Amino acid sequence: MSLIPDDVIEQIRDAADIVGIIGEHVELKRTGSDYRGPCPFHGGAHRNFAVIPKKGMFYCFVCHEAGDVFTFFMKKLGMDYPTAVREVARRVGVTIPERGPTGPDPREPLFTAVATAADWFARQLRDTAAAEVARQYLTARHVELEQAYQLGLGYAPKDRSFLDAMKGLGLRDEVLLEAGLVVKRDDGTVGSRFRGRLLFPIHDVRARVVGFGGRIVDEGEPKYLNSPDTPIFHKGKLLYNLHVAKHAMRKAERAILVEGYFDVLRPVLAGIEEVVAPLGTGLTPEQAQLIKRHAPHVILLYDSDDAGLRATFRAGDELLRERLRVSVATLPPGEDPDTLVSARGATGLEAVLKDAVDVLERKIQILERKGFFGSLPGRRRALDRLLPTIRAASDPITRELYISRVSEVAGIRKDVLEREAGTREGGRGTGSPSTQPVPRPSSPVLLPSSAEKSLLLLVLEGEPWKARVLEAVDPEEIEFPPYRAVFEALAEDAPERLDETAARACELLKAEGLAGRAPDELFERAVNWIEARRLEREIAKLDGLIPLAAPEEQPELLAEKRRVFDALRVKYPRYKIAARRGRGASGT
Ligand code: UTP
Ligand code: MN
Repeated sequence: MSLIPDDVIEQIRDAADIVGIIGEHVELKRTGSDYRGPCPFHGGAHRNFAVIPKKGMFYCFVCHEAGDVFTFFMKKLGMDYPTAVREVARRVGVTIPERGPTGPDPREPLFTAVATAADWFARQLRDTAAAEVARQYLTARHVELEQAYQLGLGYAPKDRSFLDAMKGLGLRDEVLLEAGLVVKRDDGTVGSRFRGRLLFPIHDVRARVVGFGGRIVDEGEPKYLNSPDTPIFHKGKLLYNLHVAKHAMRKAERAILVEGYFDVLRPVLAGIEEVVAPLGTGLTPEQAQLIKRHAPHVILLYDSDDAGLRATFRAGDELLRERLRVSVATLPPGEDPDTLVSARGATGLEAVLKDAVDVLERKIQILERKGFFGSLPGRRRALDRLLPTIRAASDPITRELYISRVSEVAGIRKDVLEREAGTREGGRGTGSPSTQPVPRPSSPVLLPSSAEKSLLLLVLEGEPWKARVLEAVDPEEIEFPPYRAVFEALAEDAPERLDETAARACELLKAEGLAGRAPDELFERAVNWIEARRLEREIAKLDGLIPLAAPEEQPELLAEKRRVFDALRVKYPRYKIAARRGRGASGT
């Protein structure tokens, strides 16, 4: 994808009829200088969704989705940024020069080679006698052939027909070698990398095939062989199925992380699409960031044996460092998502997902079950296992909550625990040097709970404040778990649903009351704070991505950051966020 010059993007944005374009998806009515309609993002029935042509922006007063005409396409239709720009450009009749100033992408021949190979492998699986073994393998695993074809699976035969076919199609050995499709043998000749394997095409986030995972279908080692890292295939920066899952992830607001190709495939075929897997390695920080781009919550669904648990908690820590909400779902012993869905379908999987518990809670469960808390040395060792997870939790509220919970379960004073969790961290986590270059946003340590608390105090105050808060704030925006629980219970008039912690929190809030504070002022400040936090996080997220993105992606990300930053500055000048983040506005 070539880069679209900034001035062209501006030109397209200015020329776009945002009311007309959004009006194709939302029934808009004029209200003064703005247009209002039901929000297409949270699906509300009231006209809380505003399109502001003067600013070229849309904004929902309830779910706080906001952006310009490009973000509308990205959020509504799941397009990536360049595609959204091109789509708007097409409508306004602006021609985008096909190549950026840097000239053609030198990796283009590699994309072509891998796409050509993927197509050829897929045809082998479908049409050749040699692939019978693979078709039988799929049938034996209860994957319908039509479904396998639809997913683009392929077969790499054992003979040299792949080499001949690629040569026939004009692909040179050097390109095949660089694309990781062939290997050089000692005698200098080349051979196919994949032989006698069922191939899973691996796509980048823009849905281009960039490599393969190959499972052996009869005898042989290793069980899975992946493409080697190449200029277009980076194991640690890709997730299997992300190009499909990202849309479902936005919609479901969760990602399900599994270990293997079949573990992805099976739920996807059963209609649960928000499933991704790393490519045979532990989850990397880059992969955690990729997930964070599309969903706020991850459910880890790994094997429940010891190796699976170790991988679960390592991935969990990585995700906590990205401030994601992390839960662990527990499979019955000996099952993986593949076997579970085969046996019990999507319903069976949903049941397991529904019982997922917070990652720290899961650690505690396991330690409790193994009797760690029964003795003094056991408690010490339990702490050693819990501390890394506390340290990994970059989100200050999650961390605070984790400290309280561990303090309670291990009988250690909170301040001692805080010191212990803080000391070995040195701000950036201990061992893993890979977490080093990721800039962490400064933590809004105490404020969020005060804004969240204000909102709850208002709800407890009764009408009209209750209704106003419920209209302005989505329960998801309340992040401190006990407060979230109280909020949800009050929203639904179901106080009996509070668990012990939340009930205690509720009692304390009631006792505190507004204490003479003006409710309108409290309301305004709290709602603004919550929304500013959302935008700030958006910026922090981009700050994390920018240093890791490929050079040709940088301008897009910087432009996106500038847009969010502008939204923040325009809407919340009073909160001095602009001043604090002034450095960030210029990007580079
Ligand atoms: P598993 O060994 O758990 O396999 O590896 P699986 O996914 O259940 O595979 P099936 O059901 O036997 O076909 C989990 C993942 O680890 C990677 C692969 O990505 C695999 O899906 N792996 C495993 C490798 O990269 N190489 C191997 O040799 C084995
Ligand atoms: Mn399996």
